[in-house]
Amino acid sequence: MIKLVHIVCLSLMLVTTNQQQRTLGKFQEIFAWKQLTYYINGIQLLQDRFSEDIVDRSKRQADRLIFSDDLPSENSTWNEGPDNDRPIWQATTQSPFVNPDEEAGRFFIQYNNLPMGVERVADRLFITVPRRRYGIPSTVNYISLSRDGRSRSPALRPYPDIARARSLASVYRTRADTCGRLWMVDTGLMEIPGNPQQIQPPAIVIYDLSTNTQILRYPFKSTDIPAANTPTGLASITVDITGPCDEAFAYVPDLTTYGLIVYSMLDNNSWRVTHNYFHFNPLAGNFRISGENFQWSDGIFSITLTEPEADGCRTAYFHPMASTQEFSVSTCVLKNSSLSSMSDYYRLYSYVGNRGEGSQSTMHGYHARSSVIFFAEIGRDAISCWNTGTALNPANIAILARDRQRLSYPSDLHVSNDEVWVMSNTLPRFGYSRLDTNEYNFYIYRGIVNDLISGTVCSTLPFYN
Ligand SMILES: *[C@@H]1O[C@H](CO)[C@@H](O)[C@H](O)[C@H]1NC(C)=O
Ligand SMILES: *[C@@H]1O[C@H](CO)[C@@H](O)[C@H](O)[C@H]1NC(C)=O
Ligand SMILES: *[C@@H]1O[C@H](CO)[C@@H](O)[C@H](O)[C@H]1NC(C)=O
Repeated sequence: MIKLVHIVCLSLMLVTTNQQQRTLGKFQEIFAWKQLTYYINGIQLLQDRFSEDIVDRSKRQADRLIFSDDLPSENSTWNEGPDNDRPIWQATTQSPFVNPDEEAGRFFIQYNNLPMGVERVADRLFITVPRRRYGIPSTVNYISLSRDGRSRSPALRPYPDIARARSLASVYRTRADTCGRLWMVDTGLMEIPGNPQQIQPPAIVIYDLSTNTQILRYPFKSTDIPAANTPTGLASITVDITGPCDEAFAYVPDLTTYGLIVYSMLDNNSWRVTHNYFHFNPLAGNFRISGENFQWSDGIFSITLTEPEADGCRTAYFHPMASTQEFSVSTCVLKNSSLSSMSDYYRLYSYVGNRGEGSQSTMHGYHARSSVIFFAEIGRDAISCWNTGTALNPANIAILARDRQRLSYPSDLHVSNDEVWVMSNTLPRFGYSRLDTNEYNFYIYRGIVNDLISGTVCSTLPFYN
């Protein structure tokens, strides 16, 4: 009976199966972790592990897909959180304290695993863990909502499986398109503080979500990557499809060296565009988040697209992260590689408005039926919205949820159908201090667009289901 319910109604299952329903504003907490765990080849990793024999084991079974044939057995404890789980594998010795240099080559260092991206695609929730430290078993992972959704802190499963997931060096965020493909940028970089290692060229990587096979690895051209540290800033990708699937475009913001890389699938070619609006605002670069004070200079961070307009192109809204301003440009401009040499190129971009003090934002996402953009705001520990039919100014921004602890550094936000999915990960405390592993540090929330915007300034143009 319970099984039938979660086959029939996934959303209902998400609401009812966490023993306790936790909310934040009009958002619902779907998952939360003190620290991440992984479920790899039938083994649940609950604490540090030195060897890679889990990978070797999968090499001997290389033709097997974990998520299609390796369902946990009826009797397994997959639906219980790590808090209650008896580990299937246990370390025989406690891992000693090691300094970062001594962590090289280790398979799993639990503390170093900080989730960054979240995206729901049907039953799967893709969760990325960029390699900014040693000891990350897999950078792209997923949770099956129907199988793992009953736990508050489910273990991550490497995508597509541990052996093939190891071909990706480091991924910040994924984005699925309307053609059943999952896009990402593999920065190719092990971003170890003080010891960054470019282990393969940065590339766009695409998976077919029905066969879970990689269908493209497009290494960027040297002209796309102006500096050795450029790959550190290739943290998101936005896919634009207005025609056949093989005519897709992708836009990759470069937040570190302030540019935007455009990829044309039809031409299998890329080019870089630049504009002053891609730079950070020096007056908005001072942050105080989760008790840490720091200055950042991150430029263009997130691009979100409207529906196509009369000319067949979309409006691309974008913002630098160290900024409270929003800008826009037509995708007709981005798609035309020869325009940037024109004398009036500067004027093809527009200043949209200022979102208000403390509104510095990582990702934002446009919801087509309501014309509302949702923002993950790191400056105010908040999720906010703006109806694009209104002027962009602080009075037209509504704060939908705000919490210094449970919404500290919302690192990803994605609109999927009529849902808004959010990850928050307390990143500044991880980077500048130390996470308290006895507390919840990583959260995933989901909100329903109509619920979120009703009664706010964002719902001036109502839409109905
Ligand atoms: C589950 O447990 C039952 C009863 O203990 C046992 O008969 C059955 O073989 C187990 N199934 C699996 C797949 O291990
Ligand atoms: C696209 O270009 C990359 C190299 O630039 C190449 O590896 C790949 O095979 C090409 N893909 C197609 C479909 O032509
Ligand atoms: C790109 O823009 C130039 C200048 O407006 C124009 O001449 C050219 O036809 C455009 N190219 C495409 C492919 O639209």
